[in-house]
Amino acid sequence: MNPVPSVATVGELRRVVEAWRGNGETIALVPTMGALHRGHLALVEEALRRCARTVVSIFVNPTQFAEGEDFDSYPDHLADDARILARLGVDLIYNPAAAEMYAHGFATEVRVGGLGDGLCAVQRPHHFPGVATVVTKLLTQCRPHMALFGEKDYQQLLVIRRLARDLDLGVEIVGVPTVREDDGLAMSSRNEGLTPRGRKIAGRLNAVLHAVAVRILAGQPVAEALAQGRDELIAAGFDAVDYLELRHGETLVPLDRPTGPGRLLAAVHVDGCRLIDNIPLE
Ligand code: PAJ
Repeated sequence: MNPVPSVATVGELRRVVEAWRGNGETIALVPTMGALHRGHLALVEEALRRCARTVVSIFVNPTQFAEGEDFDSYPDHLADDARILARLGVDLIYNPAAAEMYAHGFATEVRVGGLGDGLCAVQRPHHFPGVATVVTKLLTQCRPHMALFGEKDYQQLLVIRRLARDLDLGVEIVGVPTVREDDGLAMSSRNEGLTPRGRKIAGRLNAVLHAVAVRILAGQPVAEALAQGRDELIAAGFDAVDYLELRHGETLVPLDRPTGPGRLLAAVHVDGCRLIDNIPLE
């Protein structure tokens, strides 16, 4: 098995991808922060299916973490990640240092109005500007035909779709369904931080989302179903519920009736970990 070539500068990245473009090859980019699990790999496999060339970026982006969040303890499994990506047949790893991504004096921020407010932005106001800025940079650095993101981070996916359209980046943004453990827990690097007790509780999040969806579709008023769902999450053992909401699946406007494509979204805390999940209402 050959190791995946790896580049760490914008110049090297451009040289490789421009040569592919010159040959008429299609290019997919899968942005990640590393510590790869099966959720990430679903994006990579979809990229490999859809494009001639697949680039995976591994960059733990400091600007999307606030003071006191888990930036310093974010897992670093670069050697394992590179082995996994080699096995899948990825063409290039892009692993820039923070100083390459953010040159001295860096002063530009991408902010997506509307979609980038509310839900996760309430507790983490710094988060989406950090994500939007780094993803805009990754997309302009790599100039892929397609970039793939997980539905697991649903608000992030919509924010990125919007910015790609608004800034005419000329890239197709592809959403990939959430990959889950057997009990429904969405795979996440943060699950590594759970105690056995916390891990058990965490598995209840998806079950409660489904129970709320069933009740709303059976006619229970939305506000009542959501309030009952929040109570069920606390009863299941979660320490706090940041939100449990029904939103429109494309605009994220709050819905008080199950009209249009609905999406149930939640963020909860257990064992000091913040977990998010979402499901379509259908
Ligand atoms: P990270 O958390 O590493 O996730 C990278 C990509 O994998 C994201 O698109 C995320 O939605 C997707 N993903 C994570 N868990 C998944 C799961 N269980 N099923 C399906 N997809 C899953 O999200 C980020 O990094 C960063 O914010 C990034 C976009 C790289 C910008 O820094």
